[in-house]
Amino acid sequence: MAPHPDDVERRIGARSFARLLGDWRPPGGRRLTAALADRVRLLVLDGRLPLQMRVPAERELAAALNVSRTTVAAAYEALREAGILHSRRGSGSWTQLPAGSDDGVSSPFSPHGDRTLFDLAHAALPAPAELRGAAALAVEDLDAHLGGHGYDLLGLPALRAAIARRFTARGLPTPPDQILVTSGGQAAIALVLAALVTPGDRVLVEHPTYPNALDAVRARGARCVPVPLDLTTAGADAWDLELVTAAVRDAAPRLAYLVPDHQNPTGALLDSAGRERLVALARRTGTPLLIDETLAELTLTGIPQAPVAGYGAAESPLVVTVGSAAKVLWGGLRVGWVRTAAPLIRRMGALRAATDLGGPVLEQLLAARLVDDLDPVVRARRAELAAARDHLLGRLASAFPGWRPSRPSGGLSLWVDLGAPVSSRLVGAARRQDVLLAAGPRFGLAGAFERYLRVPYTLRRDRVEPALERLVTAWHTLDEVAPDAEPVAVA
Ligand SMILES: Cc1ncc(COP(=O)(O)O)c(C=O)c1O
Repeated sequence: MAPHPDDVERRIGARSFARLLGDWRPPGGRRLTAALADRVRLLVLDGRLPLQMRVPAERELAAALNVSRTTVAAAYEALREAGILHSRRGSGSWTQLPAGSDDGVSSPFSPHGDRTLFDLAHAALPAPAELRGAAALAVEDLDAHLGGHGYDLLGLPALRAAIARRFTARGLPTPPDQILVTSGGQAAIALVLAALVTPGDRVLVEHPTYPNALDAVRARGARCVPVPLDLTTAGADAWDLELVTAAVRDAAPRLAYLVPDHQNPTGALLDSAGRERLVALARRTGTPLLIDETLAELTLTGIPQAPVAGYGAAESPLVVTVGSAAKVLWGGLRVGWVRTAAPLIRRMGALRAATDLGGPVLEQLLAARLVDDLDPVVRARRAELAAARDHLLGRLASAFPGWRPSRPSGGLSLWVDLGAPVSSRLVGAARRQDVLLAAGPRFGLAGAFERYLRVPYTLRRDRVEPALERLVTAWHTLDEVAPDAEPVAVA
């Protein structure tokens, strides 16, 4: 595959660099060197500054930033010591990842430990630049908690309040007693299933859907009732609500698990008419809806939809919403939440004690800081992801002209029709090329979706081309491999 021009440019000019640095100066202009070094480090670690990129000469950057050359020289020196820059005498400095970042154990369950692996099994982004500053503030906030015992089954009040404010800002008035904080969205799903479903019950699911939710339903001893999505569209038509209604009537599920906001894996977004119909169905039949909003903040084109509970079920236990900080902020935070009627929240808090006595205080303080100032992060994420989606679509069109990817209006991945039922074999062949992928059948029941592959657009830009080259090799060696049988962690 010919290299794409985006992936060939290996130097960045002083003015572009200054622009990328953004508003890096600390208030009061103190500790300029440390602030500059910190910002560059973050840009490299979160992938906005590609690896092996030549940074501007000290004098040029000093002029562009209007700081002394000594400040830039000291920042570069600190970055060299931290292993973020390496220099060749007289010829400049290049970005790199610190040596320790590829020392970790490498396995399909811990792929980040190995830089040579291309991880397309996790649709997830690196932490935003804002995380470090918020972490410093969270450490200060911690003082007020150190005198207490640190346990809270419902979650730290400051974070419950911040999440409640975010719902309110999204058009769904929410008091903090309607929020329970969990250790991630997955734990939120498991807790809701523990509260509402008993072994042997049926749970309606979209088909395809998020694999770990299917596993959580199975782990609860419940049976999935799949309702097919229309895979020819990533719009609201993906849901046939007549079919959903018929499945509720015929199978009498105990609960319906739905992902109406940039559904994982299809990216489809349900419109307001559909949301209204879902709530009406829940009311008519008494079937609670478990609405997974994990990807709701990541609308790339158009306007995000209001939360489903906002369609007349703001205080009803019939709509239980789960959310997560993982996709909009960072998976490493391990913060998620449940929003529903306050009495059900209290019941779930009591149930939670069987498996877990609350989340870590520091992470919750950090999440509270970030959730309270989410708009700048969301804006940056949306712009970044829209560009990444279009870039990947363009590259896939030339590398795999026979594939038919979706063009979702949000979320983190494309759902690709491969044109033949070879997804598991492709994933096996890709594994041999050090590319981790989740095959279509992971998102379905009984081996469905062998023609489909989920491809996230979350790889750093300078890793897309090499990953696609390996995928092309894998595509041409399909006949040599058995379908991938080894499990891979998916998010
Ligand atoms: C739809 C959906 N729900 C829940 C989760 C789990 O989120 P968390 O990482 O917060 O446990 C994910 C993660 O991939 C997801 O895509």
